[in-house]
Amino acid sequence: MEIIGARDDGDTASKSCSSEISDTVTVLYGSQTGSAKKLAFQFANELLEKYKKKVFVDAMDNFDLSSIVDSPQLTTIVFFVSSYGEGEQCDNASKTFSYLSKLCSENSHHLKNLHYGLFGLGNTAYDIYQGASRDLKNCLSQLGSTLLGSYGEGNDEKGELVEDYLQWKNQFMPTLAEHLRWKPSKENTYKPSIFISEVSPRTHANGEIVSSLRDLNFLDKPPYHIAKPFNARLINSQKFTDGQRCQFHCEISLEGSRLKYQTGDHLGVYPINREEDVSKFMFLFCLRQKAEQVVQLRSTLPLWIPSPTTYKAIVKHYLNINSAISSQMLQTLANFAPSDKSKDRLLRLSSRDLFTKEVVERRLTMWEVLLEASDGNPWPDVPFSFLLESLGKLEPRYYSIASSELLYPDQAHLTIKCERELVKGKIFYGVCSNYIESICFREADQAGRLRDWQTVPIFVRKSSFKPPLNGDRPMIMVCVGTGIAPFRGFVQHRIAMSAAHNVGKMILFYGCRDKSDILYPNEWPKYSTALESKLSVHFALSREDPARKQYVQDIILQLSKDIHELLEQGAYFYVCGDAMKLSNMSKLVRQILVQRKGISEEEAATTLKQFKLNGRYQEDLW
Ligand SMILES: Cc1cc2nc3c(=O)[nH]c(=O)nc-3n(C[C@H](O)[C@H](O)[C@H](O)COP(=O)(O)OP(=O)(O)OC[C@H]3O[C@@H](n4cnc5c(N)ncnc54)[C@H](O)[C@@H]3O)c2cc1C
Ligand SMILES: Cc1cc2nc3c(=O)[nH]c(=O)nc-3n(C[C@H](O)[C@H](O)[C@H](O)COP(=O)(O)O)c2cc1C
Repeated sequence: MEIIGARDDGDTASKSCSSEISDTVTVLYGSQTGSAKKLAFQFANELLEKYKKKVFVDAMDNFDLSSIVDSPQLTTIVFFVSSYGEGEQCDNASKTFSYLSKLCSENSHHLKNLHYGLFGLGNTAYDIYQGASRDLKNCLSQLGSTLLGSYGEGNDEKGELVEDYLQWKNQFMPTLAEHLRWKPSKENTYKPSIFISEVSPRTHANGEIVSSLRDLNFLDKPPYHIAKPFNARLINSQKFTDGQRCQFHCEISLEGSRLKYQTGDHLGVYPINREEDVSKFMFLFCLRQKAEQVVQLRSTLPLWIPSPTTYKAIVKHYLNINSAISSQMLQTLANFAPSDKSKDRLLRLSSRDLFTKEVVERRLTMWEVLLEASDGNPWPDVPFSFLLESLGKLEPRYYSIASSELLYPDQAHLTIKCERELVKGKIFYGVCSNYIESICFREADQAGRLRDWQTVPIFVRKSSFKPPLNGDRPMIMVCVGTGIAPFRGFVQHRIAMSAAHNVGKMILFYGCRDKSDILYPNEWPKYSTALESKLSVHFALSREDPARKQYVQDIILQLSKDIHELLEQGAYFYVCGDAMKLSNMSKLVRQILVQRKGISEEEAATTLKQFKLNGRYQEDLW
């Protein structure tokens, strides 16, 4: 459990608390991809800043809820809960929720001394909106717990999750403080938690300046992992489609890294911010003149930037300079505005309606908003520490490995779609996918060959998305777009196995826009031949013929008899790709079970649950 800050025992507010109310707050999150976790930490940090109190933050499943069951002590917990799957709990909250559900069946107020706040994260594009947070709320209410303030919901569909959170938080935080009888600390000015000192390159002990991941000395030796990535050489790449819908294949050498992967694992890639964005950011915050200035960083919190380093290295390699901005950040930044006019503009922009229209819908980054507000003039007064604290770390991105270690033990293949979207007349470029594309294609020599120094910092992340251990089990694979990546690996895996064993049947349902959108078009017939027709591939083309739009779901229903037969033979069912497009797959499987097996909805749900438990139904969605 992470502790944010330290309790000030001399604080009068804590002394005046009722002896029954615990003076600490626990913030728990259920988060699959990190949004709920980020908000939980943001909330805890703000509590610490405002009230100077100790706050515990952790994933729900790391907290022992049984310790507060039937406890006479009043406990306060604030939950941040994301929905996943079909309105279900995230992996790091499911154990806790099962435990609470069991408690509920005892029909007793086991948690009557729990006071809680709840903010749910979800997306209205999914069938069961906010399933996880609403289930938790019902469960806690049955257990006699008291909801503090109002229950909050954030909707990810229109990119306004953070604004929904801020609206809820602005009402909830004072309610929570009143409940705990906390008084806000009087100091309310910006106080840095990261301290930066500019030093001469000669003053530090070993004389080494960390200017990028590529320069880190310790990267030279294995073992490599998320905190110590390997600088891997790109060895081959190939474009499938270009322009705004750019999709490509690339091969990365693992030689010399001792990195091992298994079919279905993910490759983590650390991106580098675009030179164009770095340059504008450096200009805006007057960092160009001191780009190579060596700085040393200190903080009471764990630091994610190596030190000593340079301003340029931080902006280029470590800082999420393109992260979305919140209206709350605009209000703080207004204090550092270069003119009254810019300040007024920022404050006006921070109202909810204008913020949605002018910032969220145009998908502006912090530096773009500030540049517009000052008519292109720099903002010299924004503390660099504030930028580090509010923009956060440039996180690695994950890609499903598109090869099998049985065929390519020293290479990891990736299938990447560049994130390029036309937003209000401007192309939005995703950081990592476009970075890899630029390394693969723009830095190649005239003959299109990759050069030795074309490298990317990578690591391997284990995944549970795995082909069956037993090679003769049938496999049903469903994907859209780059979701094809792990299935290329699965098929290669079976080809390698088929040299010595009989392998089971494989059906691949592959959703693309049209024929030109099919990735690895020349490989599928070869794989079918190599597997002596054990592999059948069904393409669902949604835009080939406007009169006949086909989606993977349509073809699966057409072939539901075959699918059911394979499931009866012990087939494994896999789903991979865009979460939104494939969110109804488990519903479809239940539907097939009801229709073909002749069982009830409830029985189908139990069967599918069993499939999930023993790995026979697996999803890898993003
Ligand atoms: C397990 C897993 C496997 C994956 N496998 C693959 C794969 O095989 N192939 C593949 O192509 N991808 C895969 N992905 C997706 C991949 O990890 C990246 O998410 C993808 O490449 C986009 O990253 P990016 O850095 O290019 O875009 P980012 O810069 O991260 O942008 C992505 C999105 O974030 C939002 N965003 C970013 N900045 C802002 C802002 N300022 N304001 C508002 N919104 C913003 C936007 O919605 C944007 O479209 C996988 C993801 C996961 C989790
Ligand atoms: C695979 C997947 C399934 C999802 N299922 C649901 C759902 O059933 N209901 C819902 O309201 N939101 C659903 N969402 C949306 C997430 O809850 C939402 O994007 C949230 O902000 C993610 O938070 P996290 O990063 O903490 O996991 C789903 C998202 C993904 C990627």
